[in-house]
Amino acid sequence: MPRVNQRVAQSPEASRPPPNLILVGFMGTGKTTLGRHLAQRWRRRFIDSDQEIERLARMKIPEIFAQKGEAEFRRLEREWVENHMPAGGCVIATGGGLVVPEGMSELLKSKGVVVCLFATPETVFRRTSGSTHRPLLQTENPLERIRTLLAAREPAYLRSGIAVLTDGRNLPDLSAAVERVYFRAVRNRRPRASRAGQPKA
Ligand code: S3P
Repeated sequence: MPRVNQRVAQSPEASRPPPNLILVGFMGTGKTTLGRHLAQRWRRRFIDSDQEIERLARMKIPEIFAQKGEAEFRRLEREWVENHMPAGGCVIATGGGLVVPEGMSELLKSKGVVVCLFATPETVFRRTSGSTHRPLLQTENPLERIRTLLAAREPAYLRSGIAVLTDGRNLPDLSAAVERVYFRAVRNRRPRASRAGQPKA
């Protein structure tokens, strides 16, 4: 009797990696903490776009901003998303401004399920105060900078993906909320035929 080749017997849908979870949102909204937690829980690879950019540029982020400017940093972010971001199977935390430039939101949506984390300026201030690796917050009045930048970026964040509020939520609570929205989005992305016969959630 011929041996059944499992790979051949599987549908292409079943052998494809699950869609990436892509976390976007302002600095200090907890993308990295949550991303690491979910990656560990789902046994997926965790990727931090800031670290990837630093590897690509062979420079730390404050050095890129100081020596090459913010525009070059944004160019590197786009290059990384276009050419280096894995097509699936990962949990990805992105730098706070990555999704903002024209076209980036659409590009990210083509690469996974995008969840945007939100927090008030006061919460962001509390979570980021003391950090020296964020060049955009190295000013005399970081809270004012956070307010202005967040207000300017808010429309882009609202358009970018599924919005999740993080204020007053602990990690287990936030993780459960994001897990729910991610798996609901994954179910809704699947073509109708491959959903046939599956129980409705
Ligand atoms: C930035 C956010 C940072 C980092 C860079 C610029 C931004 O990432 O990419 O300092 O423009 O909001 P985090 O959101 O991880 O702090």
